[in-house]
Formats: sequence, C-alpha cells, structure tokens
Amino acid sequence: MPAIAIIGAQWGDEGKGKATDLLGTRVDYVVKFNGGNNAGHTVVITDASGHTEKYALHLLPSGILTPGCTPVIGNGVVVDLAVLFEELEALEQRGVDVSRLRISANAHVIADYNRTLDKVTERFLGSRRIGTTGRGIGPTYADKMNRIGLRIQDIFDEKILTQKVEGVLDLKNQVLTKIYNRRAATVEATVEELLAFADRLRPMVCDTGLLLNEALDRGETVLLEAGQATLLDVDHGTYPFVTSSSATAGGACTGSGIPPRRLDQVIGIVKAYTTRVGEGPFPTELFDEFGAHLSKVGAEFGVTTGRPRRCGWYDAVIARYAARVNGVSDFVLTKLDVLTGLDQVPVCVAYDVNGVRHDEMPVNQSDFHHAVPIYEYLPGWWEDISHARTFEELPANAQAYVKAVEALSGARISAVGVGPSRDATIAIHDLI
Ligand code: IMP
Repeated sequence: MPAIAIIGAQWGDEGKGKATDLLGTRVDYVVKFNGGNNAGHTVVITDASGHTEKYALHLLPSGILTPGCTPVIGNGVVVDLAVLFEELEALEQRGVDVSRLRISANAHVIADYNRTLDKVTERFLGSRRIGTTGRGIGPTYADKMNRIGLRIQDIFDEKILTQKVEGVLDLKNQVLTKIYNRRAATVEATVEELLAFADRLRPMVCDTGLLLNEALDRGETVLLEAGQATLLDVDHGTYPFVTSSSATAGGACTGSGIPPRRLDQVIGIVKAYTTRVGEGPFPTELFDEFGAHLSKVGAEFGVTTGRPRRCGWYDAVIARYAARVNGVSDFVLTKLDVLTGLDQVPVCVAYDVNGVRHDEMPVNQSDFHHAVPIYEYLPGWWEDISHARTFEELPANAQAYVKAVEALSGARISAVGVGPSRDATIAIHDLI
C-alpha cells in the first residue's frame, strides 16, 4: 500500500483539504509535513441527512476529521502550541475525536518572540515586505536553520528548555530592543508559557518517522499533505516572496522521515484559475471585472488571515513547472464551477518577456516579474455544473476546457471539483 503526497501546484489555497478528505476513508495516516498555522484548509462535510458542517483548520491535518484515520504533525512543521490546543478543543466541542493525533518530538515550536519578530520585520521592510501571515513562521524556520530553535521535545525538560531560551534570548532581545525598539522577552515568561502545555502534549508526542515507516511496512496507506504550495516553496518558489518551508514533494520526505523511494504517488492540486495571497509576481493577475468575478464567485478570501486573494486566469506554465518539480502523477483540478458564465476562458500557455517567448518558467526571477501572459481563448459555458458527477455530464465546452488544461499541464487530470461540498467532485481516474 502506498505513500501518497498531496501538493499545491500554484500559490496555495488550491483546495487541498477537500482532496485530502476525499481520499480520507481509504487512508490510515494523514501527515502535515511543513508550515504551521499559516495554512488554511476549509473542509465542508455533508452527512447522510444533508446536514452540512464547515471546518476551517489552520494547523491540524484535515485527516483529523476522518474517523479511523491517524493525523500526524511531522518533524518539518512549526507548531504554535496555543493554536494547536485551541483547534483541538474547538473540534472536541463539535464531537470530533482528536485522541489519535501524533506529533513529532523533532517539530519546532513557534515562540512568542518569533511572532513579534515576524510582524515587526514586515513593518520594517515597508514596500519590500513579503506579506506574511504574521504567525512567526519565517523567524521560527530561520532559528531552526541557525540551530537555535526550540523543539517539542525540549518542553519536557525544564532545564534544557531554560538553557535554550536563555541562549536564544541573548540574541533576540538585542534585535527586539535595539533594532525594532520593542520590549525584551523574558526567559521566565517564555519558559512558563511553553511548559504550561507539557502535560497535555506528552501523550501525543512520539517518533513519527518510525510510526509512519512501520505503518508502511504493515501495508497501510499514508497521505502526506503539503501546506502552502509549489510557488511558495523556499527553494522552488518565487523567492523571496515565498514561505520559509519546503512545500514540494521533496519536503514531504524530509518533513516526515519517509524516504523518497517509499513515495508512490504525487497528487498536484490545481485550481481552474489562479490565486495568490501576499506580495510577489503573478503574471496572469487580473485587475478588471473578471478578477472581481473570480474573487466573488470563488469566495477568494484567506481562511487564516481573511485577506482578499489576488485572482487571475489559469497559468499552464506554472502548472507544468509544478508537475516537473514534484513529479506529479495526477492533478486534481478544483473549482471549475467558478468559471461558469464566461463567454471565453483564457488560459496562459506561455510568457512573453521583452519580446521573447518562454514556454517554461524563466530562469531569472526578474524575467518572471516582467512576464506577460500569452493566452489561448477557450469557449465558455453557462450551464450549472455543480451537480455533474461524471465527466460526460459536463457541458461540451467545460469538457474541452479540462482536456485543454490537461494537455498543457504535464500530468493527467484525475478529478475535477465542481462545488465546495465534499461530494461535488467528478472522479476520472482512481487516485489510489
Ligand atoms: P508566511 O508563510 O506567513 O511566512 O508567509 C509567506 C508568504 O506565503 C506570504 O505571501 C503568505 O501570504 C503566503 N502563504 C503562507 N501560507 C499560505 C497559505 O496557506 N495559502 C496561501 N498563501 C500562503
């Protein structure tokens, strides 16, 4: 039985939560391997009686909602413990059993000073800001790389934790007070805040790499669910306008302890158009009534920050790039219903950069900033497609759109999303 990764193929918010949840009942483990509470999954579940529940998850893997599935927070994640327990308590109040959650002893912890530094650094950068979610993600990963980070396991040893906090605050307080003119953080308050979680945390913490590899040995199915997406990956994204973690298929291995040779399948989630939150280049971005249409019909507001998402047409160049970087075996094309009601649907097939055609992502980031989309215009459709459950039930022009996008994007499209609810999906090829 396989290890499967689910990866965002654009700039995030492609609807990964829904795709994960769709596979959920056949999956034994769902692993979050990167990022933290900068993510936002919305999962809509309709039960047999037609009752609909909407869940917005930021830190927890969406597998937490699937009975019988074990959710895992892997070593590659940065954990805000207050948010973790808030989410767990909110789910428990709604009757969700959260007792199976397992957390890597090696995951890093987001400390209060890093939340502060994330926000003040953005303000300091002014027009050069990244547009981060302000959750302390970047500074916490920076500490990890600098080898001054705090890990989940440190919370179970007060002496070690105090030593580490003393060491890191020697440095951070210089920055906070002298550069940003903020109050210094105290060792006592920082340690106390983290220690308060120790007893509740202890039963959840283990060697998750061992847990997952043993599950694969037993023939169980492990789903690795990326936070953010390919173009936000710290190595492969539109640096520096990226998040600070590895959101691509390689990160699924390093962030979970599952070796590359055990990864059987990579599912790329791609929206039928494109969105982006925060700053950075976005060639197909729309500033006209079509952008407003996509934003309104697609309800394109961040789950985590509530910020409006920037909207644009489908960009096949970045989809092809994501297919290559991740080794995508199947795409799930989401939110096709949002494109209903347009005379023509443009698809970006290549870029024009100063008169030169680029069929692949330009090597140079400045060229990407200046890329002008070259569009193919496909005929639109007006029929309501939200009740279609087979490919044949789609209007001919919607079918042609899916086929055209597939031919341009470097991997087969195995499912199409036609509405927000869990069952509003057309399966074309089996995913497992
Ligand atoms: P950070 O992850 O908070 O450091 O933010 C870095 C960049 O990634 C910003 O442009 C954010 O808007 C973007 N970002 C982070 N998480 C998500 C997400 O879940 N969806 C979309 N964009 C995200």
